[in-house]
Amino acid sequence: MPELIRVSDISKYDGQEVVVEGWVYNRTDKGKLAFLLVRDGSGFVQCVAFKGDLDEALFDRISHLPQETSVVITGTVRADKRAPGIPGGYEIGIIDLKIIQLADEDYPMALKEHGVDFALDNRHLWIRMPSQWAILRIRATVISAIQEFLDDNGFIRMDTPILTPAAVEGTTTLFETPYFDEGVAYLAQSGQLYNEANIMAFGKVYCFGPTFRAEKSKTRRHLTEFWMVEPEAAFCDLDGLMELEEQFISHIVQRVLRERKPELLSLGRDLSKLESITPPFPRISYDEAAQMIAEIREASDDQEEKELLAFEWGMDFGAPHETALTQKFDKPVFVYGYPTQVKAFYMEPWPGRPEVCKSADLLAPEGYGEICGGSERMSSHELLLQRIHDHKLPEEAYQWYLDLRRFGSVPHSGFGMGVERTVAWLCGTEHIRETIPFPRTIKRVYP
Ligand code: 4AD
Ligand code: MG
Repeated sequence: MPELIRVSDISKYDGQEVVVEGWVYNRTDKGKLAFLLVRDGSGFVQCVAFKGDLDEALFDRISHLPQETSVVITGTVRADKRAPGIPGGYEIGIIDLKIIQLADEDYPMALKEHGVDFALDNRHLWIRMPSQWAILRIRATVISAIQEFLDDNGFIRMDTPILTPAAVEGTTTLFETPYFDEGVAYLAQSGQLYNEANIMAFGKVYCFGPTFRAEKSKTRRHLTEFWMVEPEAAFCDLDGLMELEEQFISHIVQRVLRERKPELLSLGRDLSKLESITPPFPRISYDEAAQMIAEIREASDDQEEKELLAFEWGMDFGAPHETALTQKFDKPVFVYGYPTQVKAFYMEPWPGRPEVCKSADLLAPEGYGEICGGSERMSSHELLLQRIHDHKLPEEAYQWYLDLRRFGSVPHSGFGMGVERTVAWLCGTEHIRETIPFPRTIKRVYP
């Protein structure tokens, strides 16, 4: 019996007879030859049927296979530079083909252009297409690299709750759910506050799971359900945090380059733009960033751009500001020291400048914008209590969080990285909805 192989490993089997289990993605007929592009989950490979080699009934069946028919193919691997596929460069000469299920002829995602809404309605089928398949394979590697880096660097995984009694990132984006006699609970916006409790027991921790934001923003960067990894460390200040982040991001990028080159190339990604992602990353203060934006705006003779880049000290950066800024750098750039008024309640004030806080956002290059948000956390009980009152947050709900400042408070810091924004940048994908298997946005909960 020939060996059952995965297409991703095909280069190891040149000249050998193998078996592939998969689906017919495309078929082209050229008289005595039929070409099948077959996907097996690990890759796409061209399989060739030659009329002269096969009995007539089999060749005829192959020449009529509808797209998505599930098959088991036996054949001989041959290296051929021109052979399409992912990774490509090899084809299989068909010796035998068994049909598992002959697919219905009316496949909705047939190989032609589809509108975005149609594609999203058929997301359960769209994920079979090479571009979507490649993006989601890269996503899986990003997730694996995240865990690998943190596990190897002394961080302990602590799963934080999804049903929570209070806000972390502002009360306007909370999803509410009825909760028995307690009234309501909210879907977690972040596991950070619990991580702050966890580090006082374990030193360095991370949580990693789905987070929820009832974001009204309908942009190409926002989902209502997304995956965030949140490392947190005790005895760590803002500088320590930025060092950790640049190591972390570089590790993820380099691992994706090592393991997912065929997928990146199939997406047309310029690898040189990723190869240069190594520490250190540039760091600029919010004040410097504001200055740079003012200069870019000054230099622009495009009226529309000038309006989009309008800016005053104290504002948060919008997507156009981030895009303009990141085009000045070929690596991710840290912007630190944002105005206190645009950031969450828990951030440590800048020494001697209470209008600024010890926050740092990491902005990805090529216009992708914020992929990580982090900060040093407030360590004083008195200040934190004051801040909770200023933000009109219910003190009772934060009692346990305040306790952390009474029993062994230490300087500590952490950040959150959005998986989907990171994957969008690595893949060079226009829209974040393609970076998660089944996206959730304000307009979509199906399929
Ligand atoms: O900047 P954010 O809101 O920070 C926090 O939630 C902190 N509590 C994290 C921490 O310090 N532990 O979110 C962090 C990251 C963003 O940089 C972005 O990558 C992603 O989460 N993100 C979103 N991704 C997709 N859709 C949304 N609506 C997102 N909101 C945030
Ligand atoms: Mg943020």
